[in-house]
Amino acid sequence: MSKILYIKANIKKEGESKTFRISDHFVEVYKKSHPQDEVITLDLYKEAIGFLRPEDLEALYGPKDGVNRNHRVLKYAYQFAEADKYIIAAPMWNLSFPAILKAYLDYISVTGITFKYTHEGAVGLLEHQKAVYIVTRGGAYTDSPYEMGVRYLRTLLGFFGVQAFETIELDNMNRSGTDIEKRMEEALKRAAKMAETF
Ligand SMILES: Cc1cc2nc3c(=O)[nH]c(=O)nc-3n(C[C@H](O)[C@H](O)[C@H](O)COP(=O)(O)O)c2cc1C
Repeated sequence: MSKILYIKANIKKEGESKTFRISDHFVEVYKKSHPQDEVITLDLYKEAIGFLRPEDLEALYGPKDGVNRNHRVLKYAYQFAEADKYIIAAPMWNLSFPAILKAYLDYISVTGITFKYTHEGAVGLLEHQKAVYIVTRGGAYTDSPYEMGVRYLRTLLGFFGVQAFETIELDNMNRSGTDIEKRMEEALKRAAKMAETF
C-alpha cells in the first residue's frame, strides 16, 4: 500500500479552479486504479500554514528523534517524508505559484527529515518518492525562462532526492479565442492516463 499526499494551493471556491478540475480528476482516477492506496488531501488554505517564526528555528535545527513529531511545523515535514507519492496542484501566480505553497515548502525543508547534511554536502532522504505537479496558467509559460514554479518545485524536490517529477501544464487559460474547453478535455484525458500508472 502506498501513501499519497495530495497538496492543494488555491483560493478559489469549490468547483471554480481550473487547476483543481484537472488534479481532482487525476486523484479520482488514481483512487480507482489503486484502490489499496491511501490518499491524504492537504488543502493548504485549510491548514495552519503561516510564515516561519523565530521560535520555530529551534525545532527546525533541533534533534529529530520523534519528540517533536507534533510540532506545528515539523508535523508537516514528517507527514511529507512518510508519503510515497505527491500530487501537487497550484495555479501559476506571478510566474510561480501561490505564496502559501512556498510557506509550506519552508515547513517541509527540514534537515534530518527531508534531507540531511553530510561531509560531502546536502543529501536528499526521499529518493524512493515520486511527484506530479499540476498547473494551469493564464498565459503561455511552459518551458519559458520566466516560469519559476515548475523549476522551483523540480529543483527543491530533487534536492530532497525525489528525481521522478512529472508535470501536467495547461497554458493560455485566460487568452480569448483559445479553445479552452477542448484543451481542458485533452488535459483531463492526459491526467487520467498518467494517474493510472502513477
Ligand atoms: C494572483 C494571480 C496571479 C497570476 N499570475 C499569473 C502569471 O504570472 N502568469 C500567468 O500566466 N497567469 C497568471 N495568473 C492567471 C492564472 O494562472 C490562471 O487564470 C489559472 O488558470 C488559474 O487557475 P485556477 O482556476 O486553478 O485558479 C494569475 C492569477 C492570479 C489570481
